[in-house]
Amino acid sequence: MTTLTDKHIVLGVTGGIAAYKTPDLVRRLREQGAHVKVVMTDGAREFITPLTLQAVSGERVSHSLLDADAEAAMGHIELARWADLVLIAPATADCIARLTHGHADDLLTTLCLATTAPIALAPAMNQQMWRAAITQQNCQQLRARGVQLLGPAEGAQACGEVGAGRMLEPLQIVAAVQQLFAEPVLAGLKIMITAGPTREALDPVRFISNRSSGKMGYAIAAAAQTAGAQVQLVSGPVNLAVPHGVSCTKVESAQQMYEACLAQVAETDIFIATAAVADYRPVQVADQKIKKSQSEMQIALVRNPDILAAVAATQQVFTVGFAAETQDVEHYARDKLQRKNLNMIAANLVGEQLAFDQDDNALLVLWADGQQSLAQASKTVLAQQLVGLIAQHYAAHTAGSAN
Ligand code: CTP
Repeated sequence: MTTLTDKHIVLGVTGGIAAYKTPDLVRRLREQGAHVKVVMTDGAREFITPLTLQAVSGERVSHSLLDADAEAAMGHIELARWADLVLIAPATADCIARLTHGHADDLLTTLCLATTAPIALAPAMNQQMWRAAITQQNCQQLRARGVQLLGPAEGAQACGEVGAGRMLEPLQIVAAVQQLFAEPVLAGLKIMITAGPTREALDPVRFISNRSSGKMGYAIAAAAQTAGAQVQLVSGPVNLAVPHGVSCTKVESAQQMYEACLAQVAETDIFIATAAVADYRPVQVADQKIKKSQSEMQIALVRNPDILAAVAATQQVFTVGFAAETQDVEHYARDKLQRKNLNMIAANLVGEQLAFDQDDNALLVLWADGQQSLAQASKTVLAQQLVGLIAQHYAAHTAGSAN
């Protein structure tokens, strides 16, 4: 189960270049268990075909208010009633203006008037059009009426200009939509999450590292943010976008990650250590590039500090560790739970298309007097389930401490 399981989303697509991203958006929403019905404006059909959106949504795509077949069954009213959310992405300046003024001259605007479901817009337009006073006034009026505006983002635009007006990426829109439906189980809590690998320098151009992609940690950061937490990521070098609304401190080495975490521990309620921290670092880091002068070479290594154990030792935070094992998962993970004095540990079997650098994972979550398996799923889905478990156990833990 995710926050979007069985939710009915009417996706309105209007005529902007960002419409080409909507098949991916539909796919991502369905991946989360949502049912999606697409409504297109005339303009949208200039950018993307209804057939594409029908194929990815698995539903008939609606377009015309005057479609005799659909309207025999009052299609626009049915859609308006079916929706748990009307999401318009991309929402052009024209669409925003027409919604503000209550137009009802096409299917999308009509159903927006006819629905009692919440409405969310992901604006997409040229930066000057976004900044225009009238667009800003319209957006203000829509917000005042309870319409949610998701984005826009800043950056390079299709027209060659740079500024605010880009549609949020599909995954960011999905995260924002999840937030609209999510129970705020972590509301008011501060969560710090380590993620990714660390790099232990040998010389100015070489380092020792590992295969961690950071995907699990970033997915947990997004899920915790969606659940209402204030999230601080402390991330090693990865190739991932920081989730919308999450703060991130970027580090390279284990020592830097240790310092960044310990500096913020006093402002943290829950610490989740997903990073694949290098256990050792070279004793010496050469100032200059090491030359291949010898036929053999040895590198002396020294242990890195254990960040998770150090945070747990402060006894100020609820700690959740990760354990990647190749055998005897439960045994080794329970040993780590006790040895590092953690509140919870999420263990996984590495390999077999799971864990490191993969999109899927499966977890066995352990705590002092219990455990729960989370079956194989995408890291996004697992992260939401894990966040739910952490919220439950954190609540029990704080209730226990108060008694
Ligand atoms: N961890 C950490 N700092 C370290 C090492 C690990 O914070 N220097 C955290 C990881 O983020 C993870 C957990 O500790 O949450 C993993 O524990 P660890 O004992 O390092 O696991 P392994 O390296 O798998 O241990 P072992 O070699 O004993 O199997």
